[in-house]
Amino acid sequence: MDEQQLIGLPDELVERIREEAEENDDIYRRRTADLDVSRIHYFHSEMVSWAIRQLGDLQGARILDIGIGDGHSSVLMALAGAHVTGIEVSPVALARTEALARHNGVKLDLHEMPGEALRFDKGAFDGILCVCVSSYGPGEGCRRICARVASRRTSIHD
Ligand SMILES: C[S@@+](CC[C@H](N)C(=O)[O-])C[C@H]1O[C@@H](n2cnc3c(N)ncnc32)[C@H](O)[C@@H]1O
Repeated sequence: MDEQQLIGLPDELVERIREEAEENDDIYRRRTADLDVSRIHYFHSEMVSWAIRQLGDLQGARILDIGIGDGHSSVLMALAGAHVTGIEVSPVALARTEALARHNGVKLDLHEMPGEALRFDKGAFDGILCVCVSSYGPGEGCRRICARVASRRTSIHD
């Protein structure tokens, strides 16, 4: 985890984010690379598709995807015309997402950053997607943090 991104957060939260990053690095390291987006499942591809639909028309929309995992949702939204910014605490997940985006011919703006410390301007996004990031969303704290950077559409699900 990029330690710079953790500056200013409470110690207990920093510890939890570090643990999440390490745990998920291990999970994604063990996964085989399948770069065909139509075959990528986090065992819940239906749910991801449903959550994306809640954001409405994606053409030209600026969307923040929090906890992108191996990039399935980010790539699908970019293929639908969104400008996608993805954040993650696991560097291994970010590398997998980069490969998936390259293979599918889309560009994503990717950052190693926890959802608890969004370093973006107020109103920087038209919408936010956050799926199955259980240690972060969809509680009140998460919604408050998200409301600062996107006022219009959110699709946040555990
Ligand atoms: C269960 S996966 C879900 C991935 C993706 N959203 C999906 O639905 O396919 C949760 C992901 O969130 C990331 N994560 C966990 N805590 C996070 C946090 N505080 N901020 C950003 N990402 C986080 C993990 O590293 C992991 O890749």
